[in-house]
Amino acid sequence: MDLVDGIRGTGAVRAFTDEPVDDHTITRVLDNARFAPSGGNRQPWRVAVVKDATIRQQLASAMQPVWDEYVALSATGVTPFSVVPPASYEMTSTAPGNTPNLLLSGIASVPVVLAVAADLSSIAMMDKDLGRVPITGGASVYPFCWNVLLAARAEGLGGVITTFASRAEPVTGPLLGLPENHALVATIFLGHPVKQPTRLTRKPVGSFTTLDRFDGPTFGA
Ligand SMILES: Cc1cc2nc3c(=O)[nH]c(=O)nc-3n(C[C@H](O)[C@H](O)[C@H](O)COP(=O)(O)O)c2cc1C
Repeated sequence: MDLVDGIRGTGAVRAFTDEPVDDHTITRVLDNARFAPSGGNRQPWRVAVVKDATIRQQLASAMQPVWDEYVALSATGVTPFSVVPPASYEMTSTAPGNTPNLLLSGIASVPVVLAVAADLSSIAMMDKDLGRVPITGGASVYPFCWNVLLAARAEGLGGVITTFASRAEPVTGPLLGLPENHALVATIFLGHPVKQPTRLTRKPVGSFTTLDRFDGPTFGA
């Protein structure tokens, strides 16, 4: 597949057929994804291929309240779990519990569930001393996660990156045997797509690009 087509057309897939994905295919996906860049080429990612039915179910149970909270916060119009507090907002809806989510209710039959962790001891967190939440460290592990989706696409698979297990890390970490000084960064679901979305909706270049400074004139419109 053409690289640009892959970049432009790898949408989130959340519904999978019953067709299984064998271990060789999973290994090939990871074998291609590992060529992702990382700070100092330290490759801080760790992956657990979660097959055990009980672990999967407990993962889903830990993620469900996070999803409930996410949906309830979204309904207020705020970005859920943002570190920048809105001027004010009203919780017009409370987390009702068990907001439908097919990935979680159907976790037993998702062909592939990957838990991805990052070894914090090998990440240079360039913005750690700025008095705000650091973000640069993610750049050493999320390109890998994205490569997993691209490599999966090359195998005819689809999938989605999720982060809700991270909010529940006090539960999901021990459940997955997360090593000391590691952070859970993503749970990636993969399988044969019921439908592969290819026409994605994204903002145009001119809406997020400016010349010289972020307050400069629009670039690339
Ligand atoms: C960091 C991150 C977290 C995400 N978390 C979730 C999630 O918890 N649940 C979910 O269904 N999709 C999740 N997604 C998928 C996004 O919703 C998806 O990439 C976005 O809506 C664009 O969808 P599209 O590629 O199909 O256009 C996440 C994606 C990223 C990159």
